[in-house]
Amino acid sequence: MQGAERYSRRDVLATSAMLSLGGTACAEELKQPSAGKTLIAYLTRSGNTRVIAGTLQRTLRADLFEIRPARPYPDDYEQHVAQAMRERDSGFEPPLTTKVDNIGAYGTVFLGFPIWGETAPPPIRSFLKAHDLAGKTLRPFITHGGYGVGASLAVLATQATGAKIEDAFVMEADQERRTLNHVRDWLGQINSSQS
Ligand SMILES: Cc1cc2nc3c(=O)[nH]c(=O)nc-3n(C[C@H](O)[C@H](O)[C@H](O)COP(=O)(O)O)c2cc1C
Repeated sequence: MQGAERYSRRDVLATSAMLSLGGTACAEELKQPSAGKTLIAYLTRSGNTRVIAGTLQRTLRADLFEIRPARPYPDDYEQHVAQAMRERDSGFEPPLTTKVDNIGAYGTVFLGFPIWGETAPPPIRSFLKAHDLAGKTLRPFITHGGYGVGASLAVLATQATGAKIEDAFVMEADQERRTLNHVRDWLGQINSSQS
């Protein structure tokens, strides 16, 4: 079945309403999706981007693909940030656990990721290197911790060669660092009240 036939009017309206909350409504375009199936590909560390990916997948009844680096990043947030910065600065493209089997079958790819170090995470560059998106519609969805999308859109423009890149859905979401700082403050209070 072609992607265009898979969207009910209700699905499309629901998705349009959802996306318009972020100020990037594209209802007319979603009513006429590109030929081919729709893929939701995303990267996440702490789950914010996964929530959006899951919502898109259920609403559009699209296929879902989690982008996973072959060597997982450290659980420790500070170590993860340090590694991501090194990889950003060196241009390293980490190998992924797996590729999308049949990328040719998709006409539209929703690509979701968090901002790492004011740009697209290294595994996103790996994903774009490993998959030919020429001729496809690319709809980015991006979460960040309060500092905006940085250089990520320029990365997409350079690396998603030949794709038709639509306006990104951008959302500020919880930053793990903020949670860590709150927890550290709390533990500090416990320590000082016990001494
Ligand atoms: C390695 C790393 C670097 C980050 N760098 C930035 C940044 O430069 N700017 C920003 O606004 N948020 C930054 N963040 C916060 C995330 O972009 C934000 O919390 C995002 O919503 C996390 O998405 P996720 O839960 O899908 O992993 C960073 C987070 C990590 C783990």
